[in-house]
Amino acid sequence: MTNHISATAAGNQAAADGTMKAIVQDAYGAVDVLRSGRTERPRIAENEVLIRVHAAGMDRGTWHMMTGRPYLMRILGFGFRRPKNSVPGLDVAGTVVAVGSAVSRFAAGDQVYGMSRGSFAEYAAALEDKLAHKPSNLSFEQAAVVPISAGTALQALDAGRVERGQKVLVLGASGGVGTYAVQLAKSLGAEVTGVSSAGKVDLVRSLGADHVLDYAADDFADGSRRYDVILDIGGNPKLSRLRRALTPTGTAVVVGGEEGGKWTGGFGRSLRAPLVSLVVRQRLAMLASKERASDLERLTPLLESGAVTPSIDRTYTLGEVQDAMRHLEAGHVRGKIAITVFSGEAAS
Ligand SMILES: NC(=O)c1ccc[n+]([C@@H]2O[C@H](COP(=O)([O-])OP(=O)(O)OC[C@H]3O[C@@H](n4cnc5c(N)ncnc54)[C@H](OP(=O)(O)O)[C@@H]3O)[C@@H](O)[C@H]2O)c1
Repeated sequence: MTNHISATAAGNQAAADGTMKAIVQDAYGAVDVLRSGRTERPRIAENEVLIRVHAAGMDRGTWHMMTGRPYLMRILGFGFRRPKNSVPGLDVAGTVVAVGSAVSRFAAGDQVYGMSRGSFAEYAAALEDKLAHKPSNLSFEQAAVVPISAGTALQALDAGRVERGQKVLVLGASGGVGTYAVQLAKSLGAEVTGVSSAGKVDLVRSLGADHVLDYAADDFADGSRRYDVILDIGGNPKLSRLRRALTPTGTAVVVGGEEGGKWTGGFGRSLRAPLVSLVVRQRLAMLASKERASDLERLTPLLESGAVTPSIDRTYTLGEVQDAMRHLEAGHVRGKIAITVFSGEAAS
C-alpha cells in the first residue's frame, strides 16, 4: 500500500496535464531518432495494467524497432513508414497504479515485471497476460532485463527439448538471450558449451558453462565435439555448419543473428531451417518467441532460488538512452542493459 501511495504521488505532476516524460521516436533511423520529450500518458484497455515504470530493459528487439530493419518487420505490423508505437522499450519492471475492469491478477501497488508497450517512459501500459509479480529478491533493474531475453531462452530450450545429461551448445552465450540460455540449460542438468568473443569468455564461464569457445579462435563445427542440441543465438552460421556439429539425431534451434540482408536480416536462415529439417534426420527448428506471462511464472522461482541471475553490464538513466543504444550497437554489452526510470522511495 505504501508503494501505491508514493508511486501515485510521484506521478502527480505527470497526471496533472495527462502527459509524462518519455523517449519519443517518430521515425525509423539511427540513434538520434530517440529523443527525450513529453507525450501522452497511455490509456489502458479493460485487460491492461498501467505501470509506474521503475526500470526498463533494452534489447536487440528495441534496436530493430529503432532502425526499422529488417524491412520484413514493417510488413509484419510494427509500422510501415514509422513505428506504430512512438514510445520504444518493451521490457518493464515497476509498480501497478491502475488496472482495467477485466484484470484479476493484479491490483494497484503490486510490483510487476513483463512486456509492455513503451517502457522508456514514466508510465507504460501492459496486457495482464504479459505480466507477473516481480521476483522478491530482484531489484527493479534486474527484473526489467529478464522478460524478453530470458523468455526467449526458455522457449529455445523447450524447442530443443533439452534433457538432463545432454550436450548443449549455445552460440552467442555472452548476449542478452545467451546469458540466460546458459544458466537455464545448466539448471536442466545439461553439459553446456558457450561460444562468445575472447573478451567475454570469463562472463560465460561465470554463468556456469562447462566449456567456453572463442568464436575467433575455435571452430565449433570442426568435428571434435558433437552436440545433442545447438541454440543458435549469434554469429549466423550456415545451416550446414550447425548440422556438422550436431549428433546424427540432434536438434538445432535457430533463434537469431544480426547479419543478413536489409529485407529479411537473420530471418532467412530461420525460414530455411524447417525446410531443411524435412529432408534430414537431424531436426532444425526456428524460433519465433512469444511474449507471455506463463514463461515469467516459470522463471520467477528460478530467479528467486538463484539458479538464474540477470547479468547487467551497465545501467543508464532515461536521459541516457541514446548512449545505452550506442553501447548495444557497438557489441560491447556483456549480458544486458538496464534503464533506470524512477528510483524514488517506491523502488526501495
Ligand atoms: N527468434 C526470436 O523470437 C528472437 C527473440 C529475441 C531475440 N532474437 C534475436 O536473437 C539474436 C540475439 O539476441 P540478443 O538479445 O542475445 O543479442 P545480443 O545481446 O546483441 O547478443 C548477440 C550475441 O551474439 C554473439 N556473437 C556475435 N558474433 C558471433 C559469432 N561469430 N559466433 C558466436 N556468437 C557470436 C555475441 O558475442 P560477443 O558479444 O561476445 O561478440 C553476443 O553474445 C538477435 O539477432 C535478436 O534479434 C530472436
